[in-house]
Amino acid sequence: MTKPLIAANWKMHKTVQESVDFVCGLVTEFREPCGREIVVAPPFTAIHAVSAVTRGTTIRISAQNMYWEKEGAYTGEVSAPMLAEAGCEYVILGHSERRRCFGEKDGEINNKIRAALEFGLKPVFCIGETLEEREAGRTFAVLERQIREGLNQITGRDMKGIVIAYEPVWAIGTGRTASSGQAGEAHHFIRTEIAGLFDVDTARDLIILYGGSVNPSNIGRLMAEPDINGALVGGASLDLGSFVKIVRYEENLK
Ligand code: PGA
Repeated sequence: MTKPLIAANWKMHKTVQESVDFVCGLVTEFREPCGREIVVAPPFTAIHAVSAVTRGTTIRISAQNMYWEKEGAYTGEVSAPMLAEAGCEYVILGHSERRRCFGEKDGEINNKIRAALEFGLKPVFCIGETLEEREAGRTFAVLERQIREGLNQITGRDMKGIVIAYEPVWAIGTGRTASSGQAGEAHHFIRTEIAGLFDVDTARDLIILYGGSVNPSNIGRLMAEPDINGALVGGASLDLGSFVKIVRYEENLK
């Protein structure tokens, strides 16, 4: 069984200095392997400095977005090889804030996923329904569309390098977490869909994160769901103490 993955998505928060201070604390806290894959996604400006602190430690770095071309006249964009060189191992793609605020479509997210894999980055591919879609009973149809279009031309072998994050849009930054039942059911649907598109071994090995108002009090019950393999944490990852508690979720239960 693969170890649980806990990722901090800082979004547009933290200066270079604040990012470095945070990861220095994190590295001290997790000097020894703790049975988790710990990933931090700082803003672009802090990636290089953060990776200098985390090199050779148990902490992994993710970017929050990228463009699919390798280089060129794309003002304001950053490419996969640039991120890899700066020390990223992962890249968050298709986050609902990218879809909503920047109009990213499934096809563009697919281009990004394929480009990330080409340059050795592991995509954290985000999917999830809006409140309106859930209330209209369209949750599974939306997830199915996002998976099929986002993973177009992806092979079973590629899937070994992909993490999927289920983030119901209505739960992000709202303090309203999905119930264990709602999250567990969506994760089970995603795994079944991957088994159908690829095969059962690929589906079994796939890491599926839950994201949406995860905090130290609800992480334990979410991780108790068999198809939840980790968490993508926004707001509650900004404070070191809170993020450490989430990573050590089993100790919170004692
Ligand atoms: P949140 O964000 O934990 O603040 O809800 C999660 C995310 O957007 O990845």
